[in-house]
Order: sequence, then structure tokens, then C-alpha cells
Amino acid sequence: MAINMKGKDLISIADLTLEEVYEIFDVSKTLKEKLYTGEPHRLLEGKTLGMIFAKPSTRTRISFEAGIYQLGGYGMYFNQNDLQLGKSENVHDTAKVLSRYLNGIMIRTFSHQDVVDLAKYASIPVINGLTDLLHPCQVLADLFTILEKRRRLQGLKLAYIGDGNNMAHSLLNGCSKVGMDISIASPSGYKPLKEIVEHAEKNAKYMGSKVEILDDPVAAVKNADIVYTDVWASMGQEKEAVERKKKFAPFQVNPGLVKNAKDDYLFMHCLPAHRGDEVVDEIADSPNSIIFDEAENRLHVQKAVMALIM
Ligand code: CP
Ligand code: NVA
Repeated sequence: MAINMKGKDLISIADLTLEEVYEIFDVSKTLKEKLYTGEPHRLLEGKTLGMIFAKPSTRTRISFEAGIYQLGGYGMYFNQNDLQLGKSENVHDTAKVLSRYLNGIMIRTFSHQDVVDLAKYASIPVINGLTDLLHPCQVLADLFTILEKRRRLQGLKLAYIGDGNNMAHSLLNGCSKVGMDISIASPSGYKPLKEIVEHAEKNAKYMGSKVEILDDPVAAVKNADIVYTDVWASMGQEKEAVERKKKFAPFQVNPGLVKNAKDDYLFMHCLPAHRGDEVVDEIADSPNSIIFDEAENRLHVQKAVMALIM
């Protein structure tokens, strides 16, 4: 491990240097190879990761739990009802107490500020496993997957079609960090946050890449190397699902849309997918789709993150 990241938090890709991002990818590749060849890699022997979930999860929970176990450590799962947090105890006191027992905390919750505060008061590393604002672990795994498939990141174009949500925000952070062009097409009223777009534009300028926020999915997908989408209603927005379905209908990823991308484009989705809404089976199950490779890489990349920071 060439760069020392011990004690760092992973709250946002924007907090990582480009060198740290590539260090995570290097370690991910090594750990993936070791897992495949059966070579032990118990880098976190005896260490404990607390995993707090205020929202449901398949990939994040299972990949972190399997990952810490493969590294020789132990993962403890808590759902919101298990803890005093948010009921009779505040974030400050929770952070102080957990720091006395654990070696790291992974948290998935609604408020991004709660994760920022947890990291501020905890003396152990805190990993953001998704907030309403960001999903950095997913996008690190996504970029690693693209790197595996295309052997480079800089100069590629990613088109994100759909809601300007946590995925759109982390993709803006991630793509602009590594010098990939990113075009986002969303309905009006559902665009990504201005501050995040502006930050990405600044990074992109430095890296010589582009950020586009568009209304037209066809224009966004034009010549794209990667077509990415996510659910139209995220966790916590279930009540808006019917209204969103109408507004997002023109933003479905289907054969008519992807014919504007490069012939060998890659289709990506963080999952879970609402098939028939944001993407049709014909695309999700096509040879261009790498959705299960990106899901798998959550495991390898998060193991790298834990091994580097814990
Ligand atoms: N992509 C992702 O984070 O999936 P889960 O919600 O299943 O963890
Ligand atoms: N935008 C989605 C991502 C799920 C991994 C959500 O927040 O529900």
C-alpha cells in the first residue's frame, strides 16, 4: 500500500485525492486476485466494523459483511431500531461511544449531515454507505469496473439518465475527479444540486473533461461509452413514485435511446433496478450490461477501502 490512508473517512469522493482513488483501485485489484486464487488476505485480523442501516440494503450490507469477514475481521449489523441513535441519544455521544468499541463504522442513513457529524466526533474511520446526498462506495466500485473493462477512465464519456439524486451526485464527483466526461439528462425539477455540479465543473476543467446537465436524454447519450441509470424514486421517496413515473417516462433507458451511444457502450445501474421503469429487460440483460460485475466489485473495492483506512 503505497499511500497511507489510515484513519481517513470515506464520506465523499470529493474528499479523496486522485492518487487515493487510484490507490483504492490498485488494492481492489490485488484483493480481488487474492480472493480468486484463494490466497489469504487477513489484513484486518481482529478488527470490528459496525454497520448502521437506517434504510434497507442488499448489496451494501452483504458486501461489507462478507468483505470484513474475508479480511479477518468481524462485521456487526444494526438497524435503526437497534440503537439509541435518533431516539434517546444524539450523534455526538453515539460517535464517542462506538469509537471505544469498534475499529470502523459504515453507515447508511437519510441525512448526509448526520454522517458528516458522526465522522467529526468519532475517532475511528466512518464510511458512507449511502445518504440522500451521496453514494461514494457505489461510484468507486463503478469506476473500478469501467477501468477493468476499458483499461482507462480519462477521456471516456458517461451518460447518466434520470433522477439528479445521490447516484448522480457521486457520479459527478467521481467522473470529474478521474477526468471522464459526464452528461446528465433529468426532467426539470429533478436536476442534480447546483453546488455539486459546480464542484464537478471545476474538477473537470482541471482534468480537461466536460460536465453537461441536459434536458434531452438523446443528446446526453450521444457517443457515450457508458449509459447509467438509477431508480426514479429513491428510498424515502416512495410516496412520490406515481408522480415521478409520469415525469420520468421519457427518460427510460431502452433500445431506442441506447442506439445513440457508442456500439460497444456499457450499461450500468447501481441496483436495485425497477425493470420496466428506468430500464427495460432488453438492456439490463443485454451483452452490453455489466450490472452484476459492478455489483460484485462493491465487495472488492470496499475491502480495499476498509484495508486502507481501518
Ligand atoms: N447499490 C446498492 O447500494 O444496493 P443496496 O441498496 O442493495 O445496498
Ligand atoms: N438512488 C437510490 C440508490 C440505491 C442504491 C436510492 O437512494 O434509493
